[in-house]
Amino acid sequence: MKITIVGCGAIGGVISGGIIEHNPVVVSKNNEILNAIKKNGLKVKLPDGKESITWPEIFSSIEKTKMRFDVVFVCTKANSVFDVVTDFVGFLTERGFFVTFQNGIVEGKLKDVLPQGKLVGAIVGFGATMHAPGVVEMTSKGEIVIGELDGKVTERVQVLKSILNNVIETRITTNIWGAKYSKLLINACITTMGAVSGLTLGKMLSYPQFRAIFRRILYEGVEVAKRKGIKLEKISGVSIHKLAASQREVENKLCLSKYYKDFIIKIIGRKYRNLKSSSLQSLERGRKTEVDFINGIIVKYGREVGFATPVNERIVSIVHEIEGGKRDISIENLRELISL
Ligand SMILES: NC(=O)c1ccc[n+]([C@@H]2O[C@H](COP(=O)([O-])OP(=O)(O)OC[C@H]3O[C@@H](n4cnc5c(N)ncnc54)[C@H](OP(=O)(O)O)[C@@H]3O)[C@@H](O)[C@H]2O)c1
Repeated sequence: MKITIVGCGAIGGVISGGIIEHNPVVVSKNNEILNAIKKNGLKVKLPDGKESITWPEIFSSIEKTKMRFDVVFVCTKANSVFDVVTDFVGFLTERGFFVTFQNGIVEGKLKDVLPQGKLVGAIVGFGATMHAPGVVEMTSKGEIVIGELDGKVTERVQVLKSILNNVIETRITTNIWGAKYSKLLINACITTMGAVSGLTLGKMLSYPQFRAIFRRILYEGVEVAKRKGIKLEKISGVSIHKLAASQREVENKLCLSKYYKDFIIKIIGRKYRNLKSSSLQSLERGRKTEVDFINGIIVKYGREVGFATPVNERIVSIVHEIEGGKRDISIENLRELISL
């Protein structure tokens, strides 16, 4: 299988290093990354402390590779995926296809523009950071999940699994939409709330009123999923949807399960207290976030099934205002959600 990896940041870097024996061809439009890898190689550090330096072939554009590919691993942020797919589709072999590793759901939009069967969905359960161009670290472990959009276990996903097992344990799911949506729920509260508030997870979840917003974001997401027929899944051992507020809680009626969920969310905050939202890091670098593909999907699906999602809708517009320079990152942004 001739593989190209587009986007060589944290995830693309870790995957490129992991599958180096399959001779992936990396495409990076970021010149600093391109030059650093050409000069010093790609440095990857793993959670067990092991470090490697590899030398993947790297190009600044797909045209420069002068090759055709059986599979394109799309490892850019969600906002670039549509452009990447449009640029790369002409460089696929007849049986070639894309694998999308983004947080959030990009596949809905893509499946409308790609011929059928050209897309496999994936979820990345591990964490990764790029310390410097060409220097990446897998910061925490977690499985990769892959699956055909129609749920079939095909030969190509089995081959992919065996390739990606070189990065980290990889699982095939027959419910990739449910798996992607479940991962999206994690990011909808943890990543987006962290982005608008500027707080680490520990600090944010030390406030009871913010834990209530966390459950409320999940509540809207879970209710939308039920109405859309999305079957939610455990991701890396976590059933985040089980922490969603119940309807009774949202209606301010007595709800005992709320105390149990609140307690678990508090523990999550303590366990990952220093976690800084990746969307917060994007905002601090003046970049756009992936919010439209995360909370924005809950809002979109909510409209499709006629279920109101006021908290997700407001947090999406708060993020857009921050991206547009019309609002500051502040704890007040979360306070604004309390009354909804
Ligand atoms: N990092 C994590 O822990 C983690 C975990 C799970 C899932 N994910 C998901 O994985 C995806 C990638 O995240 P990441 O953390 O690896 O992001 P990242 O470090 O920002 O890497 C993305 C890379 O793609 C490059 N890129 C963008 N458009 C491109 C194009 N058209 N052609 C070639 N390269 C292009 C970017 O270049 P520039 O730098 O020039 O923009 C950047 O170097 C995101 O959807 C994220 O949500 C990340």
